[in-house]
Amino acid sequence: MCGIIGYVGENNSTSYIINGLKKLEYRGYDSAGISILQDDKIVTVRSVGKVAELEKAALQVNPQGTTGIGHTRWATHGRPSEENSHPHRDCSGELVVVHNGIIENYLTLRDKLKKLGHTFKSETDTEVIAHLIEENLAHTRAANDEEKLLKAVQKTNGQIAGAFAIGVMWARTPGMLIGVKTQSPLVVGLGKKENFLASDVPAFLQHTNKALFLEDGEMVVLRTDGVTLFDASGKEKKVKATKISWDQKTAEKGGYAHFMIKEIYDQPQALEDTLRTARTDFAKLLGVDEKALRALRNIHIIACGTAYHAGLVGKYYLEQLAGIPTSVDLASEYKYRTIPPFEKTLAIAISQSGETADTIGAIKKAKKLGFGTLAICNVLGSTLTRVCDGTFFTHCGPEISVASTKAFTSQITSLFALAACLGKANGHTSEADFEKYAKNLVRLPKDMAQTVKMEYDVRHLTRKIYKADRFIFLGRNVNFPIALEGALKLKEVSYRSAEGFAAGEIKHGPISIIDKGTPVFMLMPQGELFEKMLSACQECRARGAYVVAITTKGGEKQAKEVADKVFVVPQTDDLLQPILNVVPLQFLAYWIAKRLGCDIDQPRNLAKSVTVE
Ligand code: M6R
Repeated sequence: MCGIIGYVGENNSTSYIINGLKKLEYRGYDSAGISILQDDKIVTVRSVGKVAELEKAALQVNPQGTTGIGHTRWATHGRPSEENSHPHRDCSGELVVVHNGIIENYLTLRDKLKKLGHTFKSETDTEVIAHLIEENLAHTRAANDEEKLLKAVQKTNGQIAGAFAIGVMWARTPGMLIGVKTQSPLVVGLGKKENFLASDVPAFLQHTNKALFLEDGEMVVLRTDGVTLFDASGKEKKVKATKISWDQKTAEKGGYAHFMIKEIYDQPQALEDTLRTARTDFAKLLGVDEKALRALRNIHIIACGTAYHAGLVGKYYLEQLAGIPTSVDLASEYKYRTIPPFEKTLAIAISQSGETADTIGAIKKAKKLGFGTLAICNVLGSTLTRVCDGTFFTHCGPEISVASTKAFTSQITSLFALAACLGKANGHTSEADFEKYAKNLVRLPKDMAQTVKMEYDVRHLTRKIYKADRFIFLGRNVNFPIALEGALKLKEVSYRSAEGFAAGEIKHGPISIIDKGTPVFMLMPQGELFEKMLSACQECRARGAYVVAITTKGGEKQAKEVADKVFVVPQTDDLLQPILNVVPLQFLAYWIAKRLGCDIDQPRNLAKSVTVE
């Protein structure tokens, strides 16, 4: 999983490419590189580490040229090193390639190319692409170099297998770049006398908000004055631009120290925007195929990581509000387990990026099994949205921090709206209850705005506990997935050991890891299970735990008797409460990581979207 960028225009491409790479760094950041066509020579600068390292190196070389490509890498084949960084060259050094994805048949191709005399310098799968194009160029007849490159890339596209988005630049065709896409994202930014090729929109949003999302098998040629698109069969196709409504400011930090904290604070707006579309989109969904929705007998939710935790909450909603048996699977597991042939089944894939390979693989399997497919996704034009029959967009804006926050609460909100609509359609939710849920949903952004005010108190608490070795999170029912999410968030950004459990389970084993001073976070809003959570507090406290209770109005007094610290979160409908309860845990993860000096937005070993299996 990597980020690619290309520029053709009238300006020096170096700064455009470096700035674009900075915006793509969330996709991977173990090495980076650029190639600029300077006069008729390709100047390449590559370095291990983040884009800031590359920028320093590029400043020394100071390449000048109006055509260029760049890449930020997250290693899949070959360790992070200068030789393995992109762009990769052919033997002549006249052709360079950047790539995101995996070339599955690269070993066979490499052997063949070696036998033909090509010399490889890296351990990557990407380098075969450069040599294969070189080989095809040598055997291609054409009226001119541009046509020759086009034909050679087209041929190469048919020879490589796997998932890939590729950018190609040749020294003999200045002012021209080629992009190819199969199962990895690739988008073109359509500017005025300049065009961009990128893995994602933020890479060029500063320069243009007109985008062309490539479909699988498509190839695109970028020149300063225009873009030509070809379908999988090589036929020219009309370029249809999509207007991106995000502005650059939305895609940037907006004055916060990190994207993670900014995105936590984005949540009231994110919920507002998501709900605005939920109202129209789900109504449309119901209007369009109400009969089919009424007939639904099973739901399979498929997702990874944080999105999986949202799915776990969704199961409670769909079963309670719509009465539909719902299973939740980790996408990586769904793909490889036997799924009995259920009738009238809807598979819902939840994904912020829409590019998670496991999720895409699993939903494709669901499709093959004949299930209807729905994506809950945040990225317009992403692969998942194109694979699924329908998509509900969580309009929470670009989420840049690797640790997902606003996408999570928007996903849960969407699932609630969906469950209520399904319940209304199949009669499991009465009109009166539906109205009550709708009212609570409308109030949710305001409740969230109140909840984010908790930062100061949570921050203060972290001073006391941030050095603890291990953190425990406990919850029940709809708040059990929040315990899992609280633990995941903390692990991701602070590298601390953290575990989430169903509170009723600790006595069956996990209680043995509680020691003197172990911070234990209890998700215990007022309601049916409050008393049970009070008992869990006592059990943990008796083992020396430092107990932090997260409750709602009315629970404070009793919580204080069994906990060392109590936080009160605004109260909403019991089912919606997890959306607010997770917020103090997001702040907790952020502040512990900050006090420990961790790289919050780009934690070690992680990348924002995992586009490989
Ligand atoms: O883009 P997706 O929602 O499909 O990503 C799924 C997971 O990789 C993601 O939620 C991951 O767990 C995040 N880093 C969580 O903060």
